[in-house]
Amino acid sequence: MKDFNYYSPTQVVFGRQSEEKVAELVKKYGGTKVLVHYGGGSAKKSGLLDKMLRLLDEKGISHIELGGVVPNPLLSMVYKGIDLCRKEGVDFILAVGGGSVIDSSKAIAYGACYDGDVWDFWNGKSTPQAALPIGAVLTIPAAGSEMSDSCVITKDEGLLKRGVNSDLCRCRFAIMNPERTFTLPPYQTAAGATDIMMHTMERYFSRHQDMTLTDAIAEALLRTVMNCTLDVMHDPEDYRARAQIMWAGSLSHNNLTECGLEKDFATHRLEHELSALFGVTHGAGLAAIWPSWARYMLPRHTSRFVRFAVNVMGVENDFTSPEQTAEKGIQAFETFMHRIGMPITMKEIMGREVTDEEIEIMADKCSRAGSITIGSLEKLSKKEMIEIYRLAK
Ligand code: NZQ
Ligand code: ZN
Repeated sequence: MKDFNYYSPTQVVFGRQSEEKVAELVKKYGGTKVLVHYGGGSAKKSGLLDKMLRLLDEKGISHIELGGVVPNPLLSMVYKGIDLCRKEGVDFILAVGGGSVIDSSKAIAYGACYDGDVWDFWNGKSTPQAALPIGAVLTIPAAGSEMSDSCVITKDEGLLKRGVNSDLCRCRFAIMNPERTFTLPPYQTAAGATDIMMHTMERYFSRHQDMTLTDAIAEALLRTVMNCTLDVMHDPEDYRARAQIMWAGSLSHNNLTECGLEKDFATHRLEHELSALFGVTHGAGLAAIWPSWARYMLPRHTSRFVRFAVNVMGVENDFTSPEQTAEKGIQAFETFMHRIGMPITMKEIMGREVTDEEIEIMADKCSRAGSITIGSLEKLSKKEMIEIYRLAK
């Protein structure tokens, strides 16, 4: 078992009435002038945004708004937010939306407390020393940003998608009302569920395989998300299923499923290049890459894939052929992805084959021109990244 330091400071307020608490929570964490940050329109359309503004008004909390965050959020929007925070003396950011809005808020929170160019944190020139406090009102369970220490931003110029990790950006509170996810289109629901599964699987497939408690939590989480996703595909207003997916989304990325293990995250790194270059939905990109990563890893880590096949995907263990059992687990994952409308190759997302030149570009960016490796189960060089992208074509 690997030593660990588990830190998860976000106050979670979960349930049907949770949004009513927003102003009280902003006050509790010191907000007097709030930037309310949101996305392309879903929060406006549903009335959630107006409700948040009204509740802040009722408690006499001054606020300004900045909407228009796009999926795979852009640095240009972050600069806008930083300028606004400085000009208006903002001391708290309220993110109303999903991972993209929360990550944009986190980046603004860093930038508002930094004298240089905020991108310095993503290109390794500097590390964050301070951030404005943030609260989240979550509308899509997926990225887990509401409890994670991670902030993923795309630099418009060169389409560089990068993550920065620091406890400073962890949300002070996360309001989660599963009813707010009823309006999610099936594709976003499925992509979100895939991302949640992948945050768990990227930790489950670890070199440290003697943490049975963490493994059991991960397996239960994965089975729950799969069952509940099928339920909400059938009935989008199934509160019980929506609630479990929502909570699983937070637990999958707040490091609970990492205790005693070592995260891999190679599939994530490969996917970030795909969504940076082509703007595809993050969860769908993960679905397209994982089966190829898994088949690449299977020969060297067969027993782990057997455990996944049997305990998560419900495959019967064929003790005479572990390889076959493991392969059946990957196939069962692919079948599930197709059932919920997710792709299992890049061609299925793009509607065309990704070219060798495009693969070279993605692998080059992912490996920083061949200077770094990714992953921990096996460390992947640029050459191996190309092989996996080719398998995922
Ligand atoms: O922009 P609006 O109009 O709000 O629409 C959004 C968006 O189009 C829509 N949506 C959200 N809630 C809705 C809704 N539509 C109807 N009803 C609702 N209740 O869903 C679309 C996707 O939203 P987005 O925030 O982009 O999704 P997600 O939470 O998956 O975030 C994706 C981003 O997070 C990054 C991803 O790479 C990507 O950039 N990640 C962040 C992580 C982190 N900070 O810890 C970890 C992840 O691995 C991931 O990399
Ligand atoms: Zn993810």
